[in-house]
Amino acid sequence: MKILFATSEMHPVIKTGGLADVSGGLPNAYAALEHDVRVVLPGYQAVWEKLHDVHKIAEFDIDSCGKRHQVAIKQAAAKGTDAILWIVDIPDLFDRPGNPYLANDGSDWWDNGERFGVFSQVAAELAMDHRGLNWKADLVQANDWQTGLVPAYLSEQLERPSTIFTIHNMAYQGQFPHALFSALRLPWHWWQAEGGVEFHGQMSMLKAGIEMADQVTTVSPTYAREITWPEFAYGLEGVLQRKANEGRLSGIINGIDENVWNPETDPYLPRQYSAAKGRVAARKLNKTELLNRFGWHESEVDLDVPVVGMVGRLVWQKGIDLVTQLIPQILATENVIFAIVGSGDKEFQDALQQLAIQYPKRVLLFLGYSEELAHLVEGGSDMFLMPSRFEPCGLNQIYSLKYGTLPIVHHTGGLADTVVNATEDNIADGSATGFVFYDPSIHALKSTLQHALYLFGKKRTWQAIQKQGMQQAFGWQESATQYLKLIQ
Ligand code: ADP
Ligand code: GLC
Repeated sequence: MKILFATSEMHPVIKTGGLADVSGGLPNAYAALEHDVRVVLPGYQAVWEKLHDVHKIAEFDIDSCGKRHQVAIKQAAAKGTDAILWIVDIPDLFDRPGNPYLANDGSDWWDNGERFGVFSQVAAELAMDHRGLNWKADLVQANDWQTGLVPAYLSEQLERPSTIFTIHNMAYQGQFPHALFSALRLPWHWWQAEGGVEFHGQMSMLKAGIEMADQVTTVSPTYAREITWPEFAYGLEGVLQRKANEGRLSGIINGIDENVWNPETDPYLPRQYSAAKGRVAARKLNKTELLNRFGWHESEVDLDVPVVGMVGRLVWQKGIDLVTQLIPQILATENVIFAIVGSGDKEFQDALQQLAIQYPKRVLLFLGYSEELAHLVEGGSDMFLMPSRFEPCGLNQIYSLKYGTLPIVHHTGGLADTVVNATEDNIADGSATGFVFYDPSIHALKSTLQHALYLFGKKRTWQAIQKQGMQQAFGWQESATQYLKLIQ
């Protein structure tokens, strides 16, 4: 099968979050199943230095929003990726520094609707082989609002590929005024609430994908249920309930790319390890290195003091405000170290910075994006905190399982589907892999962390839970097969 995977970010080329990890892993799994895969990605300024064998394969103009854009399609390869990349190079829209979605001041690029509207149009044209590349897709998978118009454009075509639209996060909907709908010259009959893109007087690109794809998926079975409820769907629950009733909504859990996230081969760790071999000793060494990195002298390091890691976008979704309340309360009574790597909203950055000043050597903080530190936190912490208020899938808790860093998670979305709580029964029958709390409150989080700290002192139990987590199957193969079954 010929599969076109349309995405706005992809590891290792450009990344802001988990979508990049999925785009780096899932197409490889399709390729491993002997499918012919192309990943189509915008040509942001930052991508070029990460690509090799770049060559132009098509050139044309596209009119949108009263302008004529010059478009070049550049085929390329990237390290660790088996799929062929098709980079949509539109300098007017994408040749800008920094984040793919945000200007330097942290606000959305003023023309995001146009940028991703045009990108989606080009992706659909490539899928249909309308630009003379002699390659027509059988299946197109589009991801999140940025590519929501891809299934919509394709729905207008005869003899078109099957379409899957994958929701990675309902919180970002890509809503734009009617003026953009007109400026993109979209078919007038799409402007309707049922079956179309209209949403409370605006155009929603997320809704476009949901309404017009053959199959809608999201990244865990629990989140697939949750988004049919008002608390998680931001007004789209009715549409999603309808899709579920039609048998067109399903949840497929993300895998992880074991070439990137694997303690046996991780180049960022001073010492590699596996569930079977050298785990305990190697983790001590990695923990020491992690603490050294944040200013602890080797002679001061006490390996019996637990390190609680956290890596992620500092946004409300991730429960950062719970963590900033938790830290002083826990440090008042417990001997613990927090190691936090993240970037995001200024209010959370400031609050964490304040704590790092207040508790030197207890709150270890790196504000910014660092792949290296993200790996070191996984490989060197004892436990990993993910108190997300909602979490479509979540990858860091899966990395944590794989690295033997016991995850502490809120029971929601993919967190609920991947971590087995260390209750007495689950410990006894050997199924426990981490710690789960059931309401996103400071009280629940605190008592669960305290339970984890208590079990940390019981080395044999701790190591048994660690081993059980590390032995789970995490690869992409199974999920890739499930996606392909949807369209057969
Ligand atoms: P989300 O996609 O909502 O951000 P996920 O858990 O699915 O959450 O994926 C986040 C990915 O981004 C993980 O690979 C994580 O390690 C990475 N990440 C997030 N913030 C940072 C950061 N500040 N530095 C390095 N990696 C980060
Ligand atoms: C989103 C979600 C996250 C998920 C990722 C990849 O960014 O917030 O839970 O793991 O997409 O699917």
